[in-house]
Amino acid sequence: MEENVRFPYKKIQEGLARIVVPDLNFFSKNGRIEPAWAPVFYNPRAIPSRDLSVLLLSVCTKACYGNRPIKIIEPLSATGVRGFRYLLEIPNVEEVFLNDKNTLAYKLILLNSELNNVRDRVTVGNEDANLFMARMCKEKGSFDIVDIDPFGSSAPFLDTALKVIKHEGILCLTFTDIAVPYGVYPRACLRKYLAYAIRTPFSFELALRILLGYVCREAAKYDYGIEPLLAFFLDYYIRIFVKIIKRTRSAESSLSKMGYILYCKFCQYRSATKSYPLVRNRLKCPLCGRELVALGPLWCATYVKKELVKAMLEELSNRRYPQKRKEKKLLLKILSELTHIPYHYTVSEISKTFKVSEPSTATVVKMFEGHGYKASLTHFDPKGFKVDADYFTILERLRFGR
Ligand SMILES: C[S@@+](CC[C@H](N)C(=O)[O-])C[C@H]1O[C@@H](n2cnc3c(N)ncnc32)[C@H](O)[C@@H]1O
Ligand SMILES: [Zn+2]
Repeated sequence: MEENVRFPYKKIQEGLARIVVPDLNFFSKNGRIEPAWAPVFYNPRAIPSRDLSVLLLSVCTKACYGNRPIKIIEPLSATGVRGFRYLLEIPNVEEVFLNDKNTLAYKLILLNSELNNVRDRVTVGNEDANLFMARMCKEKGSFDIVDIDPFGSSAPFLDTALKVIKHEGILCLTFTDIAVPYGVYPRACLRKYLAYAIRTPFSFELALRILLGYVCREAAKYDYGIEPLLAFFLDYYIRIFVKIIKRTRSAESSLSKMGYILYCKFCQYRSATKSYPLVRNRLKCPLCGRELVALGPLWCATYVKKELVKAMLEELSNRRYPQKRKEKKLLLKILSELTHIPYHYTVSEISKTFKVSEPSTATVVKMFEGHGYKASLTHFDPKGFKVDADYFTILERLRFGR
């Protein structure tokens, strides 16, 4: 079988899947290894993304679908590793639909399906992802789980994904174009996500909430609502898992969770307004009197079901994942995070504002908790913290370090 692979490759095991992947050492330049330079994409740095997806879908399918057989479509599959892992590691997954427009990837998916003895449970395509999703849906009906894992943005595939997913299906999305909703390219953010972003001290969180807000609005145009299950920022990507509820009432209740962050570029004042659309403009900063900018629209509510994260942690303890420690650390941080507050502060800003040495985030969180506030760390930034107090109270407490 492998004799048909016409580039340097190796056989690896990831989770329960055995996969033929390009040997990245042969595709390095000046000692730099970049998975995108190989004839077929395989990125070992994305293993936690796949591990966490397997965990989440295992827990959800058990809870939501009982013993019903499940169909998953992953139309940007590269080697197929993600899809094979879903098939082999999640109970009740009956069939996966894998596709890649790269013909070498297509051939590798076929080979990997033989290698894992699952050829009869995999439908493989070699066309554009949107065409594949639409065609498969027409031929086989809609899907329980749709996973979009592209280079860059999931936006070009979102509309079709929403059309081919079932009511209460789970939509999984990856975005690696974080610089756009982070605020590095405000014009690109307007074009791609119809939202306004600039660089702020909390921009990784801003990015995640703009993306989630975009998914919410795209779903709303079909009268669908979203129920976020989990979203996180890790290494170089944002991953989002939402349940799609095909009810107008749910679309309305999802839109009620949209809003804006009002931010002062001069003194870093910030607050959130759950008002969508934003009717007032030219708002003044209550601290320095200058004009505030409205960042968004974005998702203002929580982006995680904490019970689900607890179940994922339990499931993780039974798995032998090599990156278990990193994955556990992320899930624990998210579990303790005040995810209903749509922004955070950083100890670096505090030290700059008050010209004092940087306090530790743990000290700041403890100090606020000691005064009866709710406070937490955040997974977005090791220097970040969240607190349920207004900006004046926060400044006052931090100015005096008590
Ligand atoms: C990030 S990789 C997928 C990685 C894979 N999901 C994993 O977990 O290892 C993105 C893949 O999408 C493919 N691709 C890019 N644009 C596409 C399109 N419009 N339709 C289908 N495949 C596409 C690329 O060839 C590439 O293999
Ligand atoms: Zn101000």
